[in-house]
Amino acid sequence: LTTVLKIGGSVLTDKASEKALDTESFDRVLETVSHASEDLVLVHGAGSFGHPQAHRIDLKGGTDESVHEVYEAVMELNGKVVTRLEESGMKTFPVHPSSCSYRGDGLKMMTRQVEKALENGFTPVLHGDCVATDNGLGVVSGDTVAARLARELDAERLGMCTSTAVKDGNGDTVEEVREMDDFPSLENGDRDVTGGIPKKVERLLESGEKGRIFGPGSLESFLDGGKPGTLVNPR
Ligand code: IPE
Repeated sequence: LTTVLKIGGSVLTDKASEKALDTESFDRVLETVSHASEDLVLVHGAGSFGHPQAHRIDLKGGTDESVHEVYEAVMELNGKVVTRLEESGMKTFPVHPSSCSYRGDGLKMMTRQVEKALENGFTPVLHGDCVATDNGLGVVSGDTVAARLARELDAERLGMCTSTAVKDGNGDTVEEVREMDDFPSLENGDRDVTGGIPKKVERLLESGEKGRIFGPGSLESFLDGGKPGTLVNPR
């Protein structure tokens, strides 16, 4: 049983500063991840290791400028994530989308190395990254990487652990989203270079992959096979 889990940068880092971890949350979440029993492919976001840097060079579509600053920051975070998991006894294998994917008509990614590592008992750890595109260099969200992997690996489960599940106007968790029109209030969430929660939902709907969006408090339940948060279930 393969599970693809994306952990949002907001859960691991302090988004108010640059290149700063949310040390308490980082530690708690990765300790929980390290005890996962099923085959797991982990993808993490960038948070303050990538977003502020990408924002400065307006990387949304593709750019001629050097993305070195962004690249260096996400790589640094990936190193910290992998090191923390290894400390808890998890056998990890870092995989960088910049080196095995590009954006043409959608994200194209080689995934055989991920499968091989999984088969041999390693947890592949990918992340949101810089990628080559048709018109320069751009950023790809970890959400897109996760949805792509879920499809390519034919994963049983896809989870997005982010700051919160999808909430309705009353602050209650929305059980299921089938299309963007279901929840016009989603249009108002806060956005960053890769778009915040509304964009996360939109991306999952567009990918055609079914997945759950939930807060960090529900991570353990998700990894134990539970069904927390919001199910995004594309029509
Ligand atoms: C962003 O990835 C990638 C870069 C800015 C390089 P994500 O979109 O997955 O990051 P978070 O989860 O929102 O922080």
